[in-house]
Amino acid sequence: MNRLALAAIVLWGATIAAAGYLFVYGYTTTEPDGRQAVGLNDQEREHVLGEMRGLLQAVGEITAALVHDDMAQIAKAASAVGLVATQSESPALMAKLPLDFKQMGLRVHAGFDEMATAASAGASAQKIAGLLADQLAICVGCHASYKFAR
Ligand code: HEC
Repeated sequence: MNRLALAAIVLWGATIAAAGYLFVYGYTTTEPDGRQAVGLNDQEREHVLGEMRGLLQAVGEITAALVHDDMAQIAKAASAVGLVATQSESPALMAKLPLDFKQMGLRVHAGFDEMATAASAGASAQKIAGLLADQLAICVGCHASYKFAR
């Protein structure tokens, strides 16, 4: 086979392998505390941390509404952080996040949509509390595994 063709094939394979690696692992390094640090730029980090504060705010509002069995308020607070909240994510940011991170992120947003649907359908406070506990387990799991690089 001619050398140039061989070089092109090798380069092509390397590009596919690199894209595949990035898709699964994102831009990460292992930190001394054992967590994976995702390398984002300042703007991306601020954007995601702002979303995180929105998640905590929703959890606070849902917990307060649970005390009063206020399902309408729970549906409102939960749907604000449902999958609709992921629509502004840039492809560049998505490419930097490991697959597992993206999956946990999507699971948490989809879980809030499910909670909003359950609350609108008149679920019991106990049912909502159970869904909230499931959601918090995902928050805890991701925080135990990942941080953002400085
Ligand atoms: C897919 C992973 C992931 C999920 C799911 C996740 N977080 Fe986070 N969160 C992070 C990372 C990474 C950080 C940055 C931590 C660091 O750099 O030490 C963070 C930071 C935060 C912060 C700090 C924000 C700031 O301004 O510094 C809050 C609050 C927070 N998360 C709340 C939540 C809540 C509440 C949930 C669940 C409803 C949640 N997060 C789910 C990954 C996640």
